[in-house]
Amino acid sequence: MTEILLHRVLPIAKRLISERVQLGETVVDATAGNGNDTLFLAELVGDNGTVFAFDIQQQALDTTKQHVGSLADRVSLILDSHANVQQYVSDEIGGAMFNLGYLPYSDDQSIITRPSSTIAALDALLGLLKKSGIITITVYDGHEGGSEERDALLDYVKTLHQGDVHAVRYELLNQRRNPPFLIALEKMKDFTQVRKVDT
Ligand SMILES: C[S@@+](CC[C@H](N)C(=O)[O-])C[C@H]1O[C@@H](n2cnc3c(N)ncnc32)[C@H](O)[C@@H]1O
Repeated sequence: MTEILLHRVLPIAKRLISERVQLGETVVDATAGNGNDTLFLAELVGDNGTVFAFDIQQQALDTTKQHVGSLADRVSLILDSHANVQQYVSDEIGGAMFNLGYLPYSDDQSIITRPSSTIAALDALLGLLKKSGIITITVYDGHEGGSEERDALLDYVKTLHQGDVHAVRYELLNQRRNPPFLIALEKMKDFTQVRKVDT
């Protein structure tokens, strides 16, 4: 059978990250949740790499720790907002992943990612990202607060100077029940602070 090319959002996010992250690099999982992306990143960076995995819920970090199992020595779990990433990460990073919204299977699904911290984290991570590195953001807008975050994020992304960052959106148009869509950012040149344009 022919292999699928137009995958759903999560496999595409992983494919983009895999294209650019090298063994031994430092990467960031900005929303650890149940640890699926943390495990993927830990496998990708290998023995000498480091994954900084952020979450504001201890429950999420506990699950992530279990999920990464024997690869835990490559993972630094941080109980803090990704908005404070610069307090923990000073090395250049090879890539970063965001998976927005609430913690799946949690009793309290009112704890969600918020536009101001998501955007603050993106600004900081773009500064830390290597040239040609990729940041993926999987956006869910079906929950309460999701559409506000989606709109703020799309507004923010449009302000990124095209000479500094290429920003794309990928989505499946014929899926039911509010499927996520993907925003991917590629850093086009070296900078510590991304330039913004008026929209
Ligand atoms: C959709 S889940 C992430 C799923 C995860 N990638 C996985 O593989 O299971 C979103 C997570 O973001 C976390 N979160 C919300 N606000 C955050 C913030 N400011 N900084 C870091 N994590 C945050 C939530 O606690 C939740 O666990």
